[in-house]
Formats: sequence, structure tokens, C-alpha cells
Amino acid sequence: MKTELKAHAVAEERHFYIPLMEHDLTQEKSRHSVAEHHEIDEMIEKLEETDYSSSAWLVEAKKLQHRIHHHLDEEEQEVFQMGGRVLSDKEKTDLASEYDKEMTNQKKKDW
Ligand SMILES: [Fe+2]
Ligand SMILES: [Fe+2]
Repeated sequence: MKTELKAHAVAEERHFYIPLMEHDLTQEKSRHSVAEHHEIDEMIEKLEETDYSSSAWLVEAKKLQHRIHHHLDEEEQEVFQMGGRVLSDKEKTDLASEYDKEMTNQKKKDW
């Protein structure tokens, strides 16, 4: 899960959020989503530092779960729609294939 989340953040920031930041309509939302990626990173780190057998681990895991769901819902219900309005069809296709390539490469990394 850590690999998936880390790879997701890198690929999406490079091939979705950076291009979206160039447009006024999507700039603020992009910054918000990138900040959430960072927040999720820190939550993963905290979870790794927490003893798996302690009750705190489950508390932290649930917090992470809620954050991830919030983040994905927001992307799927708000950001993709806004992105659809500012990116051309060609940009969408190009970015999608760059994202896929980046995901494949990032997943090979030892996080
Ligand atoms: Fe994301
Ligand atoms: Fe959010």
C-alpha cells in the first residue's frame, strides 16, 4: 500500500497537478491535493514508527484510511471534472500515458 500511495503521489503530481497549476481554475485545488499527498506521506511515516502490536497503530491506520478516502473522493468528484475543463483532449491523452509510465517506474523503486 505504501508503494502504491507513494507512486500515485509522484506520478500524479508530475503528470496531472503541475500542468493543472498553470490554470487559474485548477491552481488552488491542485495545491490542496498536493498538500494532502504530503499529509498522507507523513501519516504513513507515523504508522511505520508505531508499534504494530499497540492499540495506537489501529488508530493511526484508521486516520490514514479516512484521509485517503477523502483525498480520492475529492479527486474523483471535483478535481477530474475541473481538469476536464482546462486540459485539451491531446493533453489528457498525453498526460494519461505519461502517468501510466511514471507509475510503472515508481513502483519499481524501493520506498
Ligand atoms: Fe492524489
Ligand atoms: Fe481535501
